[in-house]
Amino acid sequence: MLPLLKTVVPGPESRRLAAELAQNESRNVTFLSPGFPVFWDRAEGASVWDADGNRFLDLTSGFGVAGLGYGEKSLVAAVADQAAKLLHGMGDVHPTALKACLCAELSRLTFEAWGAGPGKVILGCTGAEAVEAALKTAALATGKRGVLAFRNGYHGLGYGALTVTGSDFFRAPFAAQLADFARFAPYPGHEFDAVTYAASLEEALTQADHPVGAILVEPIQGRGGQNIPPNWFLPLLRRLADRTGALLIFDEIFTGWYRTGQRFACDYAMTVPDLVCLGKALTGGFPLSACVGKAAVIDAWPLSTGEAIHTSTFLGNPLGCRMALESLRLLEAPGLGDLVMRKGEILLAALRDLEAKDLGFVRARGRGLMAGIDVVDRAGRPDPARAGAIVEGMLAEGVILLSDGPDRNTVAFTPPFVIGEEALRWAVGRLERWGA
Ligand SMILES: Cc1ncc(COP(=O)(O)O)c(C=O)c1O
Repeated sequence: MLPLLKTVVPGPESRRLAAELAQNESRNVTFLSPGFPVFWDRAEGASVWDADGNRFLDLTSGFGVAGLGYGEKSLVAAVADQAAKLLHGMGDVHPTALKACLCAELSRLTFEAWGAGPGKVILGCTGAEAVEAALKTAALATGKRGVLAFRNGYHGLGYGALTVTGSDFFRAPFAAQLADFARFAPYPGHEFDAVTYAASLEEALTQADHPVGAILVEPIQGRGGQNIPPNWFLPLLRRLADRTGALLIFDEIFTGWYRTGQRFACDYAMTVPDLVCLGKALTGGFPLSACVGKAAVIDAWPLSTGEAIHTSTFLGNPLGCRMALESLRLLEAPGLGDLVMRKGEILLAALRDLEAKDLGFVRARGRGLMAGIDVVDRAGRPDPARAGAIVEGMLAEGVILLSDGPDRNTVAFTPPFVIGEEALRWAVGRLERWGA
């Protein structure tokens, strides 16, 4: 299904809603372009309709959640069926069978699939909570408080997750309240020398005044600018973690569940973590996340004798568990990874064609359907203003995109897997109009 070629017109209903929301929501939360507010109303496949009936092609999967696309029939049916039966349970006291089933499935698809024995699970609601559960687990298991994380890494914005998020933009306003257990290393690019880099990481991991119990990393940085590290990076972290007694935590919240063509981005490096954080596409649209760890690692937690020391009201919500189980069934259908790879190749080829035109688009990169291209000025400097103009201009053409990266000059592409191949080529081709 091709996107509409006619310009989308911002409508009165979205404008009215924008004014209403501005009255009652913290002004820091929602950014709506003054000239072009868009309120989502419904969605199907890779298309979204706004409150005024405009149709958009979504190249973001709604922050990476809708890998399967919107409105997948069996997922909708599962939600309806579950909603009629049970909307809420008592996650850590009287749970549902669905929770037991989901934990078993998560073990099967992670550590058992990696040949590392059974996994055990701590469910959460947001990605940030999954990261925080992993950090607490590592602290309990190793007795060491330090965490090695990476610059431009993004792990969420709760105080725990923010402490290990490598972006001053998010940290600075709260710096006075953030704990100091994280150190940040550069996330390596392909120009890095592996030996020098390894030595610097080893030094960071063995400082006597900062015993490190966890190395936390995104196998591909998402919000930090779609950064794909060199192939030696994850195996190096595995070796260093083993040598220094730290646990290795992979944050696969963005990259997990075939976003990059493999079930997990770490599968490319054939590197198994001690803990993995999952969220976003896990349910396809319900706030449910998971920290899964090797059973022996998760068993560092004491047995609950009636009062858990880490839980929450909605933990293991039955609607979320049911959605996750149905999403996983769909995601594990044979051939999905290959489909993502094929479409990813088309996307990357289109981005490389764009780069070759010398219009101020550089560093085309991607793995599966996770890709990005940087917008630079004639002197090669990041050009966030033009990246912003592209995002807004494409919206007027009926395409939803986001910019990210430390300089906010990366145009990111993380479309639903159901997107049409022609639609992908078309959308990337339209970027030429914003050449430098
Ligand atoms: C890699 C990664 N980790 C963690 C998070 C935080 O997830 P949430 O926003 O659900 O807390 C995100 C969100 O974008 C993410 O991309």
